[in-house]
Amino acid sequence: MPERISLAIDGKKLDCPVIAGTEGEKAIDITELRAATGYITMDPGFGNTGSCKSAITYLDGDKGVLRYRGIPIEQLAEKSTFVETAYLLIYGHLPQPKELDVFSSAFNEHSMIHEDMKNFFNAFSSSAHPMAILSAMVCSMSAYYPTMIKENPSKGDIDRIAVQLLSKVRTIAAFSYKKSIGEPFVHPRHDLRYVPNFLNMMFSSPTKSYKIVDEVVQALRVLLILHADHEQNCSTSTVRLVGSSHANLYASISAGICALWGPLHGGANQAVIEMLQEIHADGGKVDKYVARAKDKASGFRLMGFGHRVYKNFDPRARIIKQKADELLNKLGIHDPLLDIAKRLEEAALKDEYFVTRKLYPNVDFYSGIILRTIGIPLRMFPVMFAIGRMPGWIAHWKEMIEDPATKIGRPSQIYTGESKHNYVPIEKR
Ligand code: CMC
Repeated sequence: MPERISLAIDGKKLDCPVIAGTEGEKAIDITELRAATGYITMDPGFGNTGSCKSAITYLDGDKGVLRYRGIPIEQLAEKSTFVETAYLLIYGHLPQPKELDVFSSAFNEHSMIHEDMKNFFNAFSSSAHPMAILSAMVCSMSAYYPTMIKENPSKGDIDRIAVQLLSKVRTIAAFSYKKSIGEPFVHPRHDLRYVPNFLNMMFSSPTKSYKIVDEVVQALRVLLILHADHEQNCSTSTVRLVGSSHANLYASISAGICALWGPLHGGANQAVIEMLQEIHADGGKVDKYVARAKDKASGFRLMGFGHRVYKNFDPRARIIKQKADELLNKLGIHDPLLDIAKRLEEAALKDEYFVTRKLYPNVDFYSGIILRTIGIPLRMFPVMFAIGRMPGWIAHWKEMIEDPATKIGRPSQIYTGESKHNYVPIEKR
């Protein structure tokens, strides 16, 4: 690999340093390009643009590799817990037993939300999307915990906000669900671990206590771990961009939640189930929908298919598909939507359109089947993605803020509007 790459533009020469990653990824550093040549680069969607160096997550889209802090996702999904994975992502190493103890206890300490914040739930209309509630509540935490949002937060401040966000987000999610169905809030319990605690807040009520089923807990644990980070995706890049102005962690994460909401990103899990329901109601005609997805004029895409970086398979989708099968088998549930999803996958993977464009099922294709089985309402699916992605967002914000090389994010543009012309007063137009 060369150490520098020479560019010659309009007779001006620039020697650009080459940056190499741990796994041999290569980048041309064009920091000096504009100043030296007057040119910028154009890369809509940033498919060829690195915005930072990061030591958090490695992924190889051609080989279907995903590792958090060097550890393969398959191993974490099999052996780790969500809280341990969160620690790994945020602090860069697997916790020692004592470290995990302290981290887990802090989850209990911070699991409740400020009493006054409960009024928020009354102010939202019952039709409010839970992602709107979640982003608003997370941003509002900066108003309820103002001592945490200093211009230069200490390591201790960041640690506290991190654990607070990780813990409270699940309380907010469960409370917003309870509000939407008109049931009283169920408070977090100190004797329950992260996932069972969430399930209990969601599904227990004054008249029935939720029976914690190990298979359900395991499926949700895996799902959260698989969502925990995905390097510079749309929402994480948003968190970094907002945070680069030194906006506080709550505000930055709230922006990330909004970015995640879109159906091309974390909203895809909801969109997949809506699509499968539509196909089911239409008699399960899978071929008709494959044909629609290929017809650009239809405006329809196969939701849960395709990915910017994975061009062979999404390793998360493989694990989730297997988990969905296992869960349904163990619970003795037959979900017709799972059958349709499998037939859709089979038809698409044989189709030249999908094969040539390297479009494969992504993480969202089968995750909705698991969430449905657990009883999570459809509109809360993106919220589940947000709970899972929280450690990644926090880890990236922390890495960004602690890196002295970070500059405020500020892309350029090529102006295509009108050339200069004079203002005309209204009476003369
Ligand atoms: N169905 C039909 N055609 C598709 C699809 C799809 N799901 N995805 C991409 N294409 C086509 C697209 O029309 C284009 O065709 P052509 O080259 O003829 O113009 C080609 O494939 C490349 O697509 P692109 O939109 O340029 O690819 P991208 O990298 O910009 O977009 C994507 C990636 C995930 C937004 C896109 O594949 C998509 O919209 N998928 C459906 C939504 C979805 O499942 N999103 C969840 C992503 S995984 C969760 C996450 O981490 O966010």
